[in-house]
Amino acid sequence: MLRQDEEFEFSRGQRDDSEIPNILLVAPTSEHPVPAILGRLEHEYSLRGQLDTRWAARPLTLVRRDGKPVLILEDVGGEPLDQLLGQPMELNRFLRFAAGLAGALGKLHQQGLIHKDIKPANLLVDSASGAVWLTGFGIASRLPRERQSAEPPETIAGILAYMAPEQTGRMNRSIDSRSDLYSLGMTFYEMLTGVLPFSAAPPQKELLDLNETIGEVIAMARSEIRRNRVLFQTDLANDLPLIAGDRIQLQQVILNLLINAIEAMGGVRDGLRELGVSSEKVLDIAGGSEEGTLENKALSHAEWTHVLVAVRDSGPGLDPEGIDRLFDAFYTTKSQGMGMGLAISRSIVEAHGGRLWAAANQSKGAVFQFTLPLRIERMS
Ligand SMILES: Nc1ncnc2c1ncn2[C@@H]1O[C@H](COP(=O)(O)OP(=O)(O)OP(=O)(O)O)[C@@H](O)[C@H]1O
Ligand SMILES: [Mg+2]
Repeated sequence: MLRQDEEFEFSRGQRDDSEIPNILLVAPTSEHPVPAILGRLEHEYSLRGQLDTRWAARPLTLVRRDGKPVLILEDVGGEPLDQLLGQPMELNRFLRFAAGLAGALGKLHQQGLIHKDIKPANLLVDSASGAVWLTGFGIASRLPRERQSAEPPETIAGILAYMAPEQTGRMNRSIDSRSDLYSLGMTFYEMLTGVLPFSAAPPQKELLDLNETIGEVIAMARSEIRRNRVLFQTDLANDLPLIAGDRIQLQQVILNLLINAIEAMGGVRDGLRELGVSSEKVLDIAGGSEEGTLENKALSHAEWTHVLVAVRDSGPGLDPEGIDRLFDAFYTTKSQGMGMGLAISRSIVEAHGGRLWAAANQSKGAVFQFTLPLRIERMS
């Protein structure tokens, strides 16, 4: 068995009665598959004439085995990409796969096909050669353009995390080959970081010194800070308790906030570009709700509930009206922005039991801060 998910199981096989002995078998996982699942196998089979073994796992036949339909594909070698993920991929390896993947997708688009379900599980990769083959064409489309009607997410084929916004039916845009490019971007992101940007995965928690995590991120952002001639200051509490958190996800949050701050100050011509990162222990009375108060006056040790990290900048600041919209997915004011940074950051912080919000900085600019609960929950 190569891989299995809720819908299909994928295995390798041999047959000796044929010119093409090495095969892949795709069968429904369920004993009683719903018609949509059967339809997807049939649909993939119907596209066989347009799929080329140089860049796709080409369907050979559709047979029945033990009462179940089984789609037989030519086995070109390689293994499903999702089995190589879960941690950041070595850069050379990534670049080789990325080039192969972009090439394969380009070939598919030249055939006038849109895959619509590009994700690591549907990509076969050969580590040695860097070759990539597409598979999982069950919802691929022949049309150059089509409009998706809004359906509840459960019935949308493909996994939402990798899906382009227009494909979810929530945006008034048509699907074209660019939707595949969006999914490709999500896949690249996951290859490079080991996690999805819209991180639905539960945090992998370990005990962390957040000051250390902040230090790691500052090291990553150092050249950006220098290049933008930003005056950078830290004010980290030296008695910060450990928190339970996912180091990579929290790095991602802090990095997003730093890069946003640097980008916000990019337009500042006169006046200093000042960026500050601070950490401290606090009593966060809100414990998750938006309008809570935060106190950090003299408290005995037992009363701290959270660690607070704040990123301050001296940029143009925020429009108080639209402050919460910043956290909406795909909200951006940048020509090159995806508008995902803050949405993802907030979902990560909330998955950790904390909260992330924005406010005006004291003198000028904006402050983005988040809390994370200390290990011992003392909130009722
Ligand atoms: N420090 C800041 N000062 C002023 N505006 C900000 C700041 N941080 C974020 N914003 C505003 O919030 C918007 C959304 O930020 P978000 O990080 O979600 O997306 P983005 O930076 O535009 O794109 P990306 O997905 O590449 O991060 C930004 O486009 C910008 O308008
Ligand atoms: Mg951003």
